[in-house]
Amino acid sequence: MAARGVGLLTLLPLCARRSQVLRPIHRLLSRAGTVAADVRREEQSSGSVETGSEDRTPKKKFSEVQKERREQAQRTVLIHCPNKISEKKFLKYLSQHGPINNHFFYESFGLYAVVEFCQQESVASLQSVTRAPSMDTEAAIPFRSRFFNLRLKNPSNQPSEQPHAQCSSQSSPSSKKLFELLCYAESIDDQLNTLLKEFQLTEENTRLRYLTCSLIEDIAGAYFPDCTVRPFGSSVNSFGKLGCDLDMFLDLDEIGKFSAHKTSGNFLMEFQVKNVPSERIATQKILSVIGECLDHFGPGCVGVQKILNARCPLVRFSHQASGFQCDLTTNNRIALKSSELLYIYGALDSRVRALVFSIRCWARAHSLTSSIPGAWITNFSLTIMVIFFLQRRSPPILPTLDYLRTLADAEDKCIIEGHNCTFIRDLNRIKPSGNTETLELLLKEFFEYFGNFAFNKNSINIRQGREQNKPESSPLHIQNPFETSLNISKNVSQSQLQKFVDLARESAWILQQQDQDRPSPSSHQPWGLATLLLPSVANSLCLAKKKKKKPASERIKNLLESIKRSSAENSTDTNGESTVSTQP
Ligand code: GTP
Ligand code: MG
Repeated sequence: MAARGVGLLTLLPLCARRSQVLRPIHRLLSRAGTVAADVRREEQSSGSVETGSEDRTPKKKFSEVQKERREQAQRTVLIHCPNKISEKKFLKYLSQHGPINNHFFYESFGLYAVVEFCQQESVASLQSVTRAPSMDTEAAIPFRSRFFNLRLKNPSNQPSEQPHAQCSSQSSPSSKKLFELLCYAESIDDQLNTLLKEFQLTEENTRLRYLTCSLIEDIAGAYFPDCTVRPFGSSVNSFGKLGCDLDMFLDLDEIGKFSAHKTSGNFLMEFQVKNVPSERIATQKILSVIGECLDHFGPGCVGVQKILNARCPLVRFSHQASGFQCDLTTNNRIALKSSELLYIYGALDSRVRALVFSIRCWARAHSLTSSIPGAWITNFSLTIMVIFFLQRRSPPILPTLDYLRTLADAEDKCIIEGHNCTFIRDLNRIKPSGNTETLELLLKEFFEYFGNFAFNKNSINIRQGREQNKPESSPLHIQNPFETSLNISKNVSQSQLQKFVDLARESAWILQQQDQDRPSPSSHQPWGLATLLLPSVANSLCLAKKKKKKPASERIKNLLESIKRSSAENSTDTNGESTVSTQP
């Protein structure tokens, strides 16, 4: 529509104009939902859903990973250590309580050790020989946890030649290091994979996240003995970057389940409880008490804030020893299910995580996202946008949520607060996509796709894998996958959306230009993804390119030629998908 008008084109920055003109026609014609159709066709011919994933290694269900990690965390302790400690002596000392399965050290305002015993009894044994610290001027709250402080009996007697503990890093690489790594990469695909490798959560960081939840569960368990504290969000959905917050879900449902089983005989036994007017008030009361508890008794929990009037009430605090910013919620089971869905999408195809990481890093580098709540787009919304884009490829790289529901069996059925959250949980039963597009192409096309998306009239919907008319007037509408009447990006302002669109167009243009003009890896010149992630470099490069432009008359001639070609091609598209304006 508007893309074909020369009048509107003259209002747009040159980078944006180039990206529209260069937009290939085949994307305008691509349609969603074909994965489902393809798989159904395959099923009919082979009689079953093809098993496997790209590498054919069976992948664990989300619930299996959570269960394993949780059990691992329950056998694990966190120890604040003296700065110079002999690893060998430390392990020998702890082994008195039982065999150790795994351990590592890290630094966070001091030296810490995470030690996983083979058996849970070892933790109790260690606790039984641990004393409360004696203090001269302050008084200790005698709280027994799995977070210890190790002191040397005679610090002056420690021989200095002992090899000290090696620390595992819990942070992402510096911009300088990342820049070097990206410049030395051999291709843009290589750059995206490097970024993923450097920023994804390490095994140690993941263990520390589950351990932190487990330590908080011990505290909440003082009030609700059968409660569970589960991590959700990017800590577990496979899209977490080192340094991301730790979202925790206080699950009190297990408590009700025990009584549900005991229904034999003539009587039904119930707990005497206090009643409050609504579920929301119950949530607020529970979180208020747990917040107080963390504040007063929680070892290492500082800066506790009770944000109880939010749409989803929460307690926010810093867990000093792990360095995590934690958000504790309850009655938020749908978010846990969203995490499982994203985990499945992340595991279906290795390109998904690489693309999501680069888009998240790109958005952060250009201040499109922020750790402070506001009118900006969130990482969750960006992830859904990437999933949607990958559903729209031809053939699709990811299946729609509706299709995942058709593959579900009786055990997968899940209704939460009246919302149908059913989808297949065994990802080995989902057929991998036949699409072989490179990451380089996908990155470029992602920017072009959203640089030209009709945000003014269309909503992004991963349930159906196709645009839908916007049901309300928010600038950006991304349907909540499970609570389908909600928009997960309702907070995004028109100006933030426009900034996203402008940057997407500019990034598409930069990548397009570099196709013709790529420096050799040894030249130390930023290129590909490196150019996109360093805003100052991107800007200067853009300026340099503009200086090297052909004479104006030749450029205008070329531009008009392109518009003519583009108009001829677009006239075959009857859906008006070529609209570029984001204005309502
Ligand atoms: P980062 O913390 O930014 O790395 O990503 P995240 O995915 O963890 O996002 P965030 O901490 O903001 O939220 C945690 C989880 O809550 C998300 O993964 C979603 O499952 C869920 N969530 C976040 N925002 C929304 C929203 O607007 N609507 C719904 N329904 N769920 C949300
Ligand atoms: Mg988070």
